[in-house]
Amino acid sequence: MQRSLHSPKSSHTMERLPGVLLFFLAIFFSTTQAYEPLINHQIHLLRPKSGAGGSSVPGVSCLSWRLGVEVRNIINWKTVPAQCESYVGHYMLGHQYRKDSKAVTDVAWLYAKSLNLTKDGKNVWVFDIDETTLSNLPYYARHGFGTEVYNSTSFNEWVLEGTAPALPESLQLYKKLLKLGVKVVFITGRGEDQRSVTITNLKNVGYHTWEKLVLKGSAYSGKTSYVYKSAEREKLEKSGFRIIGNIGDQWSDILGTSVGNRTFKLPDPLYYIS
Ligand SMILES: *[C@@H]1O[C@H](CO)[C@@H](O)[C@H](O)[C@H]1NC(C)=O
Ligand SMILES: *[C@@H]1O[C@H](CO)[C@@H](O)[C@H](O)[C@H]1NC(C)=O
Ligand SMILES: *[C@@H]1O[C@H](CO)[C@@H](O)[C@H](O)[C@H]1NC(C)=O
Ligand SMILES: [Mg+2]
Repeated sequence: MQRSLHSPKSSHTMERLPGVLLFFLAIFFSTTQAYEPLINHQIHLLRPKSGAGGSSVPGVSCLSWRLGVEVRNIINWKTVPAQCESYVGHYMLGHQYRKDSKAVTDVAWLYAKSLNLTKDGKNVWVFDIDETTLSNLPYYARHGFGTEVYNSTSFNEWVLEGTAPALPESLQLYKKLLKLGVKVVFITGRGEDQRSVTITNLKNVGYHTWEKLVLKGSAYSGKTSYVYKSAEREKLEKSGFRIIGNIGDQWSDILGTSVGNRTFKLPDPLYYIS
């Protein structure tokens, strides 16, 4: 069932890409160190007319689509445009996704360390989980990089494996925030029934401690992530915590009420959650 990254004009190197896809994933996510020369020039964001996209794929418009998604001009979309599968695949597996993630967590850290925080244990940072704390890229790499309609059965099977790698940039931010004395609260759209596998997964990849892990309870069934997460952040504030920062890959993580003093949007061209 594995989809390949293909190109009508593929070079030998490009043809070999599908076979080594999971190898690259393993390398990327097994290290939180430098990730520089793991993939060389065969994967590049800006190759609109050759390589990744091929001449039949207007790569520039996939880039524009991604920009539209990231700045929330394009909303409520169900799937990545089919012609952008290769583009999104190369973006996610190449350097750019990691560079973009680092640009986000770097600025988040600059902000956090500039604060003169009170030492009363009430400062919290809210982290989303999927595509923020943990990465489901191994799953999406096998499912068309978001071009396939979301399948809750197969996605939940993947979640229950408990093997999602950390997004290394977020893990670094998490560790530095803890050292600064900031408490971490996870607020995730994952359901209560996935609490134990989520805890196991988080601990296995380096997230060892947190103030709260909020999962979507049955009280919120049918409610959007926007409504659910706003309500849970309000509860946090009512219980005396100050949300100094909030990071997620979806706009619904960082819009609404009690969003926190500053919000940080990680890249995610794979799916949209309202
Ligand atoms: C930091 O906060 C403390 C207590 O709120 C205050 O006494 C101190 O002057 C502040 N320091 C700076 C550099 O703003
Ligand atoms: C969803 O995934 C399940 C489990 O892999 C599979 O049996 C089912 O056919 C999939 N549904 C669709 C519509 O593809
Ligand atoms: C966060 O925002 C509140 C309300 O505007 C403000 O009182 C507080 O000083 C801010 N805290 C930080 C750490 O910037
Ligand atoms: Mg998320």
